[in-house]
Amino acid sequence: MSGISLKFVKASLFYLFIGTAMGLLILLGYRELTASHVHLLLIGWVSMIIFGVGYHIIPIFAGAELYSTKMANIHFWVQNIGLVGLAATLPFRPLATDIVIIFGAISFIGIFMFIYIILRSLKPAEDE
Ligand code: HEM
Ligand code: HEM
Repeated sequence: MSGISLKFVKASLFYLFIGTAMGLLILLGYRELTASHVHLLLIGWVSMIIFGVGYHIIPIFAGAELYSTKMANIHFWVQNIGLVGLAATLPFRPLATDIVIIFGAISFIGIFMFIYIILRSLKPAEDE
């Protein structure tokens, strides 16, 4: 697996750990952590492992090359900054709503980057 895939897989395992630990904290009474728990697990664990494996396997299925490893690396940082910011600010709504929206938008840009890179990776480098 290439570097970008491994980076996403490693990050996803990190978020699995943090997210499930947060699940236990919710059970211990910190209910305001629920939204952070949900997104650390669904964006951090589930989506990021899909991004990592997807960047490796989807171009292979398509008989094509990954469109841009450089752009995928930028996607990695955008997605991680967005998620950490989102998880750190969601519990402080409504006080921090403006900041939540900024990190929510960054997270959405990350998702859009994945869609774009994968769509551009579905085309074989040269016609068969
Ligand atoms: C150690 C493991 C986990 C614990 C202790 C835990 C605990 C919890 C708790 C206490 C809630 C709040 C439930 C409520 O307020 O009704 C919750 C919600 C949620 N958890 Fe977990 N969780 C764990 C793992 C996971 C995993 C692995 C995922 C996803 C991959 C996940 C996804 C969710 C989702 C989506 C919700 C929101 C459900 C809703 O909207 O009603 N959790 N979790
Ligand atoms: C693009 C970035 C995203 C933003 C800004 C965002 C934002 C939010 C917000 C503000 C809520 C309401 C939380 C609350 O009421 O406490 C929510 C709920 C939820 N989101 Fe997201 N979300 C995003 C992406 C995702 C993705 C990719 C998934 C799943 C793969 C997801 C799954 C959920 C679920 C299951 C709930 C209900 C959780 C609950 O009951 O507390 N979200 N989201």
